[in-house]
Amino acid sequence: MITNWTRELRYKKYSDWSNEYISELKERGSNSIWHSKYHIEPDFGLLNDPNGFSFFNYEYHLFYQYYPFGAVHGLKSWYHLTSKDLIHWENKGIALKADTKYDSHGVYSGSALSIDEQLLLMYTGNVRNEQGERFAYQDAAWMDKNDKIKKEEVPLIKEPPTNCTSEFRDPQIMKIKDNYQVIIGSQTSDEHGKIAVYQGKELHSLHFTGFLNFTDNPTGFMIECPNLIEVNGQPVIIFCPQGLDHQILDYQNIYPNCYVIGQDLDWNNNTVKEPSSINNLDEGFDLYASQVLKAPDGRSLSVGWINLPDLIYPNDQDDWTGSLSLIKELTIKNKQLYQYPIAETKMLRQKKIDFQNEQVGKNFELELTVPANQRTSLKLFKTDHNYLEITINALNGIVTVDRSRTKFPLNKEFGEIRRSTVTAHQEIQLNIFVDNTICEIFINNGLKVQTLRYFSEPDANTIDLTGSYDQINVWELKK
Ligand code: FRU
Repeated sequence: MITNWTRELRYKKYSDWSNEYISELKERGSNSIWHSKYHIEPDFGLLNDPNGFSFFNYEYHLFYQYYPFGAVHGLKSWYHLTSKDLIHWENKGIALKADTKYDSHGVYSGSALSIDEQLLLMYTGNVRNEQGERFAYQDAAWMDKNDKIKKEEVPLIKEPPTNCTSEFRDPQIMKIKDNYQVIIGSQTSDEHGKIAVYQGKELHSLHFTGFLNFTDNPTGFMIECPNLIEVNGQPVIIFCPQGLDHQILDYQNIYPNCYVIGQDLDWNNNTVKEPSSINNLDEGFDLYASQVLKAPDGRSLSVGWINLPDLIYPNDQDDWTGSLSLIKELTIKNKQLYQYPIAETKMLRQKKIDFQNEQVGKNFELELTVPANQRTSLKLFKTDHNYLEITINALNGIVTVDRSRTKFPLNKEFGEIRRSTVTAHQEIQLNIFVDNTICEIFINNGLKVQTLRYFSEPDANTIDLTGSYDQINVWELKK
């Protein structure tokens, strides 16, 4: 196992890694006790952002940022998966590699758009010169119906706008009426996080039209992974501001994944009308870089990366890390954004578990209703000393998740408790999807969401429930 990841090693060519080393990685990955059953994750290596979430040639396509040779951020590729139903995914292998002068140091995040008979993949080509200076190109490649990929020879966007630094990445390309419209995460020279907007009738005539006006607040020193989607007739901007002022948004994670809902979007002025305040998309410990898709049936979908940038997790030791969240449907009801696993997720249900014996295993869905003015506590993965505690207090409308009682502490410097608030004195509905180290918690049908990791002891399979509840259902979920 490599313990000293120098820059040279991180950028070492894929073909220079020995078969012997790759076999070792595979073995360590397959022996790891931390893999999940029904989430997308690599057998070995590092997964980060979801990319190119799209529907093309009668199936869904999803890619992710991938570095195969260890649990570190090295030379990135796009790894490809396809699915007919958004639940069963087929691994297609690495689709885009860093192999041209416009992406020599990483094929970074981006999006996909179905155009005529092909899928356009638009991504950031990360390039560094010998002094280590960064250059960011916005590149393109075409995938045909046989998954054959051909890169465009020159970038669609060759440099950041003037007054922006080379922290310029993660293009989302859209077709709006007759124009291509692209939004890109950026940083101004005076270090403000912005979303740059490009427009063009042709892909090779994209030009900068300004920054997106979507909030009156400053948005940190850099914005990563901006995404726009229409949900129930309203524009929703999903983005990852780095260095966001805690006065503007209460968050504890190193970087939050946020959203703003508007009433309308005026592309002539790059303006989101009547934007909401900046909200946390996820109030848990470990969700970042969500990407969206308008599905052919009209549903608005999202998927995120479970893990945060710059943090360390116990399974890094096994040379693999990172998973994708469940696919969630986004809706707006009573002016509020809801996120909930798509209905197809029910396909994962296997047998119903009799909750009375409290043995639930490590891969299950739990549904629970706590009556108004009651307080209920769930201790998941309970052993003599450790557990993940979820307290649902319908008296004050606060759901608390506490992961401090653990044998495997995680990034404690960012706190070990997260709270979500809903209306007090009302019944609270809770749906939890547990998959070994992953826990996705949906409060009141997804009005609030907490996604997190918790590493439990191998034999920790029980839930301890105290307090009252109206109804409880538990299903074992399958691979
Ligand atoms: C976000 C991010 C993106 C970048 C990618 C590189 O997690 O930093 O901004 O394109 O990851 O892997």
